[in-house]
Amino acid sequence: MRAFLKKLLPLTSVFAVLLLAGCERPPMDSIQHGYRGTGMVEIYNPRTVDALAENNAVPFPLPQAPTDGPRASQVYKNVQVLGNLSTAQFTRLMVSMSSWVAPNEGCTYCHNPANFAEDVKYTKVVARRMIQMTQHINTDWSTHVSNTGVTCYTCHRGNNIPQQVWFKRDNTPMGADFIGDKAGQNEPASSVGLASLPNDPFTPFLLGAQDIRVGGTTALPNGNKHSIKQAEWTYGLMTHMATSLGVNCTYCHNTRSFSSWEGNPPQRATAWYGIRMARELNLSYMEPLQGTFPAHRLGETGDVAKIYCATCHQGVYKPLNGAKMAQDYPELQNYHSTQNASPKSGATKTSTTKSGTTKTGETNTDAVHLGVKVSQR
Ligand code: HEC
Ligand code: HEC
Ligand code: HEC
Ligand code: HEC
Repeated sequence: MRAFLKKLLPLTSVFAVLLLAGCERPPMDSIQHGYRGTGMVEIYNPRTVDALAENNAVPFPLPQAPTDGPRASQVYKNVQVLGNLSTAQFTRLMVSMSSWVAPNEGCTYCHNPANFAEDVKYTKVVARRMIQMTQHINTDWSTHVSNTGVTCYTCHRGNNIPQQVWFKRDNTPMGADFIGDKAGQNEPASSVGLASLPNDPFTPFLLGAQDIRVGGTTALPNGNKHSIKQAEWTYGLMTHMATSLGVNCTYCHNTRSFSSWEGNPPQRATAWYGIRMARELNLSYMEPLQGTFPAHRLGETGDVAKIYCATCHQGVYKPLNGAKMAQDYPELQNYHSTQNASPKSGATKTSTTKSGTTKTGETNTDAVHLGVKVSQR
């Protein structure tokens, strides 16, 4: 018996080590985030916070350019968006864009060096739309980005394509084996924190406008037709939101009741707008660019890369830890008068309040058909 136990001991310790390998070692920091006694506390690992700070450092801005002198539209041949800028501002932005999006390739990443006015490279066509998108975010989505705003660097960080984007998953039903549609479950995906949740909760919520609110609002079951399956989509999205911001659920919720807005911190309202903003950016800017991108940039179902919370936030509560980088780039603020090509701005930005009972006018899609049948507004 003793000998047997002796043999068992190393085995148990190996098992224990394996079991704990997924845990983060102490000490951890905790910060109170809600009223005392509500358990609304943020747990941080100081070591990952340090690592994230590095990734979220802001590059030095170029010196401001004079705003007087001839306009870019008068000097250049094919300026459709930035025509209002002075030529000095225009050049400043071109140089900055190169360092944010194509630091290794430079101007030729978007331009034919023999003729800068030509639109032969798809990257230039995409970049023009990206400039409009960035201006639109800074101008029309202050409900989310406040006066902190965004620049190309917020998403790109010196990369041709942002490191955090999402594509639709090819979640085809599982053959004729009676398993049915797995809805992307049991296929661990980092997008949902490796949990057994639907691995593409983005198509229904950040492209479609399916109901995120699934909880009943009455004590007794009274007409709430949401299924457990729909709740799993909601949890998938929430897991993504929490990991993208590097926070716990309690950053936005008093987990006594996820549905209740009572006593919730203002960050929850900011997040509510963030969901609508990401949806609108995907519908109005990314999806229409699908045909512009070459095939090797598209996902497994042939769709364009899309934006979610992690695209900007990259692990921290505010992108770039809240640095107000956009302030240094008036070129990326509002120039509506030259934006004739832009879509109806704020198309999905509703004036709906954030109270738990208010209907947001969103359509509810049958969960079973998600991924194929998403309401496209
Ligand atoms: C990420 C893509 C991108 C990079 C990199 C880039 N540009 Fe541009 N450039 C554009 C876009 C888009 C336009 C058109 C803007 C508009 O329509 O308002 C443009 C227009 C121009 C024009 C006007 C040409 C004309 O006659 O119509 C000049 C000049 C120019 N860029 C110079 C540069 C220089 C110099 C660099 C390198 C320092 C550079 N660009 C890097 C995207 C880029
Ligand atoms: C909100 C996030 C976001 C912002 C802000 C943003 N982009 Fe992008 N950008 C994207 C996404 C998403 C893609 C598609 C990535 C992919 O194909 O995987 C993209 C793609 C591009 C591409 C195509 C690159 C390639 O090699 O295919 C260019 C060029 C580009 N962006 C330029 C810009 C410029 C210039 C700005 C600032 C004026 C900017 N972007 C701001 C999200 C952003
Ligand atoms: C950054 C803020 C934020 C974080 C973090 C967050 N949530 Fe949410 N949550 C929201 C918002 C906003 C809504 C309402 C969305 C809407 O109505 O469009 C919501 C809604 C929900 C709902 C639906 C409530 C209802 O009315 O039926 C559940 C369930 C939920 N969250 C669970 C979670 C869980 C679990 C976590 C942690 C994994 C989490 N949330 C993290 C902001 C957040
Ligand atoms: C286009 C870039 C971008 C995207 C996409 C984005 N955010 Fe943000 N978010 C920001 C910026 C910039 C701020 C800082 C605003 C400020 O300073 O108040 C911010 C702030 C927030 C805050 C407030 C944090 C605080 O402590 O005050 C929350 C919560 C938040 N975002 C949640 C989300 C969620 C959830 C998503 C996805 C559904 C999302 N964001 C998508 C850019 C973005």
